[in-house]
Amino acid sequence: MKRACVIGWPIAHSRSPLIHQYWLRKYGIEGTYTKEPVRAEELPQFLASLKNRGFAGCNVTVPHKEAAFAAAKIQAPAAIAVGAANTLWFEGEALACTNTDTYGFMANLDQSAPHWKQSPGSIMILGAGGSARAVIHGFLEAGRDDIRVYNRTVERAQEIARHFGARVSAWPWDVRNDHITDVSVIVNTTTLGMNGAGDTGIDFSRAPNTAVVADLVYVPLETGLLSSARTYGLVGVDGLGMLLHQAVPGFEKWFGVRPEVTPELYRLVAENIREA
Ligand SMILES: NC(=O)c1ccc[n+]([C@@H]2O[C@H](COP(=O)([O-])OP(=O)(O)OC[C@H]3O[C@@H](n4cnc5c(N)ncnc54)[C@H](OP(=O)(O)O)[C@@H]3O)[C@@H](O)[C@H]2O)c1
Repeated sequence: MKRACVIGWPIAHSRSPLIHQYWLRKYGIEGTYTKEPVRAEELPQFLASLKNRGFAGCNVTVPHKEAAFAAAKIQAPAAIAVGAANTLWFEGEALACTNTDTYGFMANLDQSAPHWKQSPGSIMILGAGGSARAVIHGFLEAGRDDIRVYNRTVERAQEIARHFGARVSAWPWDVRNDHITDVSVIVNTTTLGMNGAGDTGIDFSRAPNTAVVADLVYVPLETGLLSSARTYGLVGVDGLGMLLHQAVPGFEKWFGVRPEVTPELYRLVAENIREA
């Protein structure tokens, strides 16, 4: 029996078990995927005993992503680029890590709005937290060279620009609408819009009609940002697709099958979000 889990504190809200348990059933794999509440001070001991507890690996969520990255002996390039890990597994006895948010975001964008690649112009990143780093790494890998980060605390955007180099620039939050006339993709990586609270204040009236708008927030599924973008005829990409795609590499590492993000899985998790 293969076992995996998600660790975090708090962890009750995690939808990862819903996703992985769906795939375990779908592929007829004898395995488990559980939620394990782990406090920050318990993390070193938990990771040291992960293998002895019978786990093939785990997902990692807040507040452990940076500490898990530091604890891993083998760090995949995606985790190094972001400086945080959300997926752990074993290479022999060694703990290995990666960050699958970059893969999840780009796979979902490519699937939901494949035309984004043909759309010239800058990439507008709203926010400068951990998820912004993952998304920026994805656009850099895709070859984009004008990625602009807008953040309330501009120093955090500047720190990101220093980290990633000349293709990434830092901007104050207040100028975001001044730059909208030439954007190709707008990505909300802030917490604004979560549970309907707060607003990114984006004015789409001057955005090119080819612009694609992606939101990492997935509660609610249709955020204020996405619904506003759609009223201007722009294509919106929701955060649930990213959540589902980012789970794929971990499942494959632990259970040996590359799972598919199906419409049925999307409906299952969307229903759970609507009921919450
Ligand atoms: N769909 C997915 O699979 C997925 C994956 C990862 C994350 N997410 C979602 O992405 C969001 C961000 O996650 P994270 O880990 O990057 O968070 P984080 O590291 O805490 O960063 C939060 C960002 O939001 C900004 N912010 C917060 N309140 C704001 C306000 N009132 N006005 C302007 N900016 C504000 C912060 O700006 P300051 O720097 O000024 O504080 C910061 O840039 C969360 O909603 C998370 O659930 C989704």
